Amino acid sequence: MSRLQAEHLYKVFGRRPDDAVRRLESGADRDDLRSEGTTAAVIDASFTVEPGQIFVVMGLSGSGKSTLLRMLNGLLEPTAGRVLFDGEDITHLTARGLREVRSKKISMVFQHFALFPHRSVLENAGYGLEVQGVSRSEREERATEALRLCGLEGWEKSWPDELSGGMQQRVGLARALATDADLLLMDESFSALDPLIRRDMQDQLLELQKTLKKTIVFITHDLNEAMRLGDQIAVMRDGRIVQIGSSEDILVRPANDYVASFIQDVDRSRVLTAGAVMEPVDGAADAVRAAAPATVDEDTPLVELFALCATTDAPVAVADAAGELVGQISRTCLLAALGEESSAGAAVPQQRNEAPTLTKQADKAGDAEPEDRKPVEDRKPVEDVKPDEGEAGEAEEVAAHA
Ligand SMILES: Nc1ncnc2c1ncn2[C@@H]1O[C@H](COP(=O)(O)OP(=O)(O)OP(=O)(O)O)[C@@H](O)[C@H]1O
Ligand SMILES: [Mg+2]
Repeated sequence: MSRLQAEHLYKVFGRRPDDAVRRLESGADRDDLRSEGTTAAVIDASFTVEPGQIFVVMGLSGSGKSTLLRMLNGLLEPTAGRVLFDGEDITHLTARGLREVRSKKISMVFQHFALFPHRSVLENAGYGLEVQGVSRSEREERATEALRLCGLEGWEKSWPDELSGGMQQRVGLARALATDADLLLMDESFSALDPLIRRDMQDQLLELQKTLKKTIVFITHDLNEAMRLGDQIAVMRDGRIVQIGSSEDILVRPANDYVASFIQDVDRSRVLTAGAVMEPVDGAADAVRAAAPATVDEDTPLVELFALCATTDAPVAVADAAGELVGQISRTCLLAALGEESSAGAAVPQQRNEAPTLTKQADKAGDAEPEDRKPVEDRKPVEDVKPDEGEAGEAEEVAAHA
């Protein structure tokens, strides 16, 4: 069974939302409704997320990502459609049932960390457990373990403002992990971080995911982040999901000109893998292996093949998980895969250039996390439940969720 299933979800803000859904069902779009003062934030969104998957929702500002996410955790009621969590329809749960699901099964990680400034790192990490009524000793134990997983061992007694942005976000992640929730919802969780730290967090999430195998819905407007993290990526435009697929699907087979124009700047060498571009083996397997500069796994990114292909004319051998030879990559094959331009059309997304590319991220080499910060242990905790960024929406969600 899928962990999460969205079925024909609509969210319309404004007057007569049900009428608006009927019009959208018969082909009207956002602009048609906007002139009447109605916003179709999400239109007919359907997808499934399997256990252990990272499902990324990607789209420009205003495309409906956060609205979609808020319907997944029941903070917003869909105008039409339903959300199934482990097969259970959460759109029709009682308020109490929904609170139960939210506090135990779903955790959120926010863009602006939403930490409580007068609570220690440990207390922040244990906040979700506190909401669940877990005893102090158990929540300290679980929060300590979650902080350790997030690389914050030794910082338990510090205050949030003594931590760098990346570290604060790791506390946010630890808070979500401490609850043992199956489903993590992450809305632009790394967007407020400097590019290098952001990349570090992406690595850490992927590393944690190898052992924790959570089901994650991750929202971003950054295509490179989407491609690094997503097992599946849903691309949204004007409230609709216009394509769902793996990063390779999207890169190799963009569904339309809009998606094609989006992916123009993606570094194909980091997304495409050996398995996706290899040619059939040319000759006897033993001979191909013997001549090859190396044998690589199918999921090796092309960027790692450059040096190998430069050393000899013989193709690189590609083997599957069982070690069987399944293909080869010649220099020509490698170049052709990288040179293949998608048929980018006219519908260039307005903010495409805002998404930092991997190259741009690398430019910010000076932004590494400070090494010299040390935990300070001389301050007393003060009870206070005001998240630092003061964003009302997030505060409400932290309280509903954390
Ligand atoms: N409570 C609301 N009332 C009215 N309109 C809303 C409301 N929430 C969102 N919208 C509208 O719905 C559309 C989608 O908004 P949403 O916040 O989901 O987009 P987003 O993709 O998350 O954007 P961003 O990347 O800027 O966070 C926007 O046009 C927004 O103005
Ligand atoms: Mg948003």
